Amino acid sequence: MLKVDPQQPEIEKIQIAANFIKKGGLVAFPTETVYGLGADALNAKAVLALFEAKKRPLDNPPIVHICDAKDVYRLAKEVPPEAEKLMKTFWPGPLTLIFKRSVIVPDVTVAGLDTIAVRMPRHNVALALIKESNCPISAPSANLAGKPSPTMAKHVLEDLDGRIDAVLDAGPTAIGVESTVLDLTVDPPQVLRPGGTPYEVLKKTLGRVELNPIVTAEKPLPVDRARSPGVKHKHYAPDADVVVVEGELSSVVNKVNELSEFYLRRGSKVGILCTDETVRHHRADVVKSLGSRSNLAGVAKNLFRLLREFDLEKVDVVIAEGVPTQGLGLAVMNRLRKASGYKIVKAD
Ligand code: TXA
Ligand code: MG
Repeated sequence: MLKVDPQQPEIEKIQIAANFIKKGGLVAFPTETVYGLGADALNAKAVLALFEAKKRPLDNPPIVHICDAKDVYRLAKEVPPEAEKLMKTFWPGPLTLIFKRSVIVPDVTVAGLDTIAVRMPRHNVALALIKESNCPISAPSANLAGKPSPTMAKHVLEDLDGRIDAVLDAGPTAIGVESTVLDLTVDPPQVLRPGGTPYEVLKKTLGRVELNPIVTAEKPLPVDRARSPGVKHKHYAPDADVVVVEGELSSVVNKVNELSEFYLRRGSKVGILCTDETVRHHRADVVKSLGSRSNLAGVAKNLFRLLREFDLEKVDVVIAEGVPTQGLGLAVMNRLRKASGYKIVKAD
């Protein structure tokens, strides 16, 4: 565990980490979204070890991280004009772009697909690590497959201690949900995963952009409709069962309490995940607030940490209040619904 300054990372520590990457090792590092688990994207053996450490299914490729927009032209077969506009506007930042891949990319890095996911993170530690390693870095979120993504270095160790070479610890991440994944190989471009760059903002820049049905799905979609390989696997789930309650706020509060009473009477240890506006109205063993509903960026930042905290408190069931799907709220609701395995209760 290497503690490092988030603004001006100490070069000696970055070099220690980069030496692991160069030798085919695995290093967890902070980005502005969540912590990633990095390996040399051009070293097939290293990337395979990455899948093994995470226990990640081999058909779900990680994102390739770069520190210089020019690197896209080595990794992608073609870079459409709208990509250049997006790169100028949003990189470094929480936007992942899907391109046709070039021949230098090993098959395992893209899970055998003919496309590649690339992003330039907005974090000095991540950028320094990529630069010092002198290679693009494949980095999925640094959690065991299926668990909530890590927003702190200690979350990485909860899942991966003993399975990786090092963690660069630069404190909690700023955004707290992963990057938005945008597919540029289809027309119009499609959001495959909502994330740190809101849909509304992409729409302003691009004009034409669609949400893949999986983004707003309220039940699992057939796999062939899921263009993003990751969507067919279980995700973001704490050990506890999760139920999401959606609808008009006062009905939601009543429904959450009704469910809480039901589970308490069954002898379950019950957690409620709610917001500042409602926290005083809930009754359960553990009640946690994501922050104010009027600050959905704050809600996103707290989401994965609180889901992990319910596990530490050995809660059996988490009843989560839905939030509006504007801005970062779309990413929050997408993660909550998936964490629940689509156990969604409508409160109206
Ligand atoms: O913010 C983030 O994106 C974080 C940090 C570490 O950068 N990374 C992250 O990586 O969330 P990961 O591997 O957990 O999620 C990558 C997502 C998955 O949903 C995967 O299916 C999708 O990107 N993806 C990767 N390559 C793809 C491709 N060629 N086509 C479509 N989707 C792809
Ligand atoms: Mg992930």
